[in-house]
Amino acid sequence: MAAPASPEAVPAAALAALSVADAPAAAAASASTAGDKQQQEKKEQAGGDDAEDSGDDEGEEEGAAAAGGDAAAKKKKKKKKKKKTGAAGGAQANACGVALFCQGPRVAPPAGTPSPYNANKAVKHRQQLSPVSVAVADMFKDKIFPEGQILPHGGEFNTFRTGSEEKRAADRLYDSMLTDLREAAEVHRQVRSDFMRWVKPGKTMIEISQYIERGTRAGLGLKYEAPPVLERGWGFPTGCSLNHVAAHYTPNYKDTTVLKEADVCKIDFGVQINGHIIDCAFTLAFDPRYDPLLQAVQEATNTGLKAAGVDVRLSDIGGEIQEVMESFEVELNGVTHRVKPIRNLCGHNIGRYSIHAGKSVPIVRNQDHTKMEEGELYAIETFGSTGRGMVLEDGECSHYMKVFDRAQEFRPLRTKGAKDLLRHIDTHHGTLAFARRWLDDNGATGHMAGLRELTDAGIVSKHPPLVDIKGSYTAQFEHTFFLKPSSKEILSRGDDY
Ligand code: CO
Ligand code: CO
Repeated sequence: MAAPASPEAVPAAALAALSVADAPAAAAASASTAGDKQQQEKKEQAGGDDAEDSGDDEGEEEGAAAAGGDAAAKKKKKKKKKKKTGAAGGAQANACGVALFCQGPRVAPPAGTPSPYNANKAVKHRQQLSPVSVAVADMFKDKIFPEGQILPHGGEFNTFRTGSEEKRAADRLYDSMLTDLREAAEVHRQVRSDFMRWVKPGKTMIEISQYIERGTRAGLGLKYEAPPVLERGWGFPTGCSLNHVAAHYTPNYKDTTVLKEADVCKIDFGVQINGHIIDCAFTLAFDPRYDPLLQAVQEATNTGLKAAGVDVRLSDIGGEIQEVMESFEVELNGVTHRVKPIRNLCGHNIGRYSIHAGKSVPIVRNQDHTKMEEGELYAIETFGSTGRGMVLEDGECSHYMKVFDRAQEFRPLRTKGAKDLLRHIDTHHGTLAFARRWLDDNGATGHMAGLRELTDAGIVSKHPPLVDIKGSYTAQFEHTFFLKPSSKEILSRGDDY
């Protein structure tokens, strides 16, 4: 999920200024098939034994090259030369040397096909299937889940942390929380990997969301049909925002929207265990024309991840993100667009059962001097746009969440419907964000009046879709990481992005 910046960042006049540009004609150029092969190759390396290797970069540039096509040509020279690590692919590789998220047409494997996830090679293990149906906990011996990518904290002043015995000892404090987060991250990786092999134009947005939601529950060892529990489950509704919609769209029932070849779709889904949430997102596009846009955002996110660290100013991270994002351009239908960061969307820190715990990581430089601190969990997410680079709320709301700070407050409610619904939310979602579909699925049908009463009373907040100008395209990449005393761990990092 994305954290919108404070409301004053959106002048009222902005709404009026939003002109409705013509949506570019769907070009639907046939995408390269290289994406499939490349994805296949990368998946083969996935698994538990690779845990130790995750720190040193895969150094794969072939992935970027496959889908990137003319991305290199589109990319502007950066004013400040940034040293790239891990990959020899030059402009094709991103800041972390991780291959560009692959694209191209995909063919759904038949149900029951073994997934490339073949976890712990050292022991008899269970292998993941497609669709995801094996609990990740059953794939790893003694429930030792793979670590994320380990990076040093950003900032010269943090070099002492690497190799500090004292800091390493202090890392241990977070072991049990990190076990939960690593399991949740592994579920995320396996679900998205399987999803990418399955998804193709023509699927409805409901099918897309439910495929991910089913996979997440199976990966967590839960039955899809069983009602949600607070111990483990979805972190928040499955975002699948399309084109100019940047965030907070998931279909409600009756929504018949279908994914099209020319769409740019942001898949943002969460996995939580004991309230420890992995919030991680990528952009799905079939048409390679969007590659430079996706690459801009992926590199911007990786730049933010690299810069993050204890005592690093959030605004400085935003500044670095902005610089990288704005160094890209994308050409669509003969018009060249400088990629703009969406300035009123932010990353955020994450608390227990609290997706937005109060701190924001901007994606442009600002005047805020707040710093990151040891022991904090963050999601850095960046959004690039060919539109205004600013979003407003628009469209039917699907995302709701109990207001965390008021979770314990007693508030009188008028109707039985609202009281029952509040009890339902407390039981199944607590202070986690939820989708209207999930209420319908679990017996709270006809919830709209009750939901309105709860939002009017300030007990539940609504999070409508956040949109840029119609006709524009937006992309997003997001990872969750933890600031351990000795290093930071990019928990949700995979070999895909
Ligand atoms: Co987020
Ligand atoms: Co998110």
